[in-house]
Amino acid sequence: MIIFKQYLRPTPTQKPSFQTPMSNSIELSQEDLAAILGIGDGRDSVTFNHNETMVNAVEISESSMVNRGVRSWRELCETDRAYLDRGLETLVQFYEQKELGTHPYFEWLRSRPVDLSSIWLLFHNLQYVTGSIVRWLSTTLTRLNDPVISCLLVEQLYDELGNGKPERVHRVLFDRLYQALTPWKPEAITSGKIDAFTASIPGLKLKQGFESYYTAQDPHLAVGSLLSGEICAYKLDQCIHEQMTRTQAISAHNLTWLTMHLTVEADHAGYSTILARRLDQLGVPRNQVGLMAQSVWEICMRFLHEVHQLNLELLSV
Ligand SMILES: [Fe+2]
Ligand SMILES: [Fe+2]
Repeated sequence: MIIFKQYLRPTPTQKPSFQTPMSNSIELSQEDLAAILGIGDGRDSVTFNHNETMVNAVEISESSMVNRGVRSWRELCETDRAYLDRGLETLVQFYEQKELGTHPYFEWLRSRPVDLSSIWLLFHNLQYVTGSIVRWLSTTLTRLNDPVISCLLVEQLYDELGNGKPERVHRVLFDRLYQALTPWKPEAITSGKIDAFTASIPGLKLKQGFESYYTAQDPHLAVGSLLSGEICAYKLDQCIHEQMTRTQAISAHNLTWLTMHLTVEADHAGYSTILARRLDQLGVPRNQVGLMAQSVWEICMRFLHEVHQLNLELLSV
């Protein structure tokens, strides 16, 4: 398991940099954050939290989902290593052809009346990642020296920063939609039946997982992470949009982040093909790029699994 080292050895007074919008915010104690980040003893934080810090929270484990008859997220993570011979463009095509709508979480959402509480929970957990995208892209960009890749990353970064308009910055638009979902914040969280720590575990783990790959020591491998990451983001936006088309409860103004991303994220996913060709031209080892892309995809599938599980736990308390 790759762990982003800066999180493992902070000074006792160093505060993790999580930011939550004000009215939706549910406070996490420093102890909670230290626990989820595995701070203090250098152990694998994901395993650490699964095994040892969940005693006061609902159980988050794969076996509890199997007991409920939910298919494993790992079924959506099969790989095809044809790209090793045929090139990294084949790797991109493989992820483009994957169907995110068949993830058990989205099948569950589709099988029941539209559930904006579940969408609130999804956005609540996605906020930890949307607040980091600009930093991740910037970090990779400043360490690269290739004009083709740099130009594509700059375009993505410029999009994220609202094409120069502060009110169009994606994080700003995301927060607007997240705030608009506040009336549907699950009662189990508002009442404290589910603690703030538990409600945030999928998103904190997603952020920590991505951090390792999007800030990889070799920036070319960080680009490899983007190959599947942007495709997954686009498919995720499509699945969320499918849910939002089932309700009129959120105004078009508040939905701007989502509607915009159906176009912008399609462009970014489309860049993956160009980036893959370029990585091949530069001779970046295909097996290493493939491992990055596969790992990011798996992190995404596990995240959706954990959001699904959290939903089921919320309904059962
Ligand atoms: Fe974005
Ligand atoms: Fe993107």
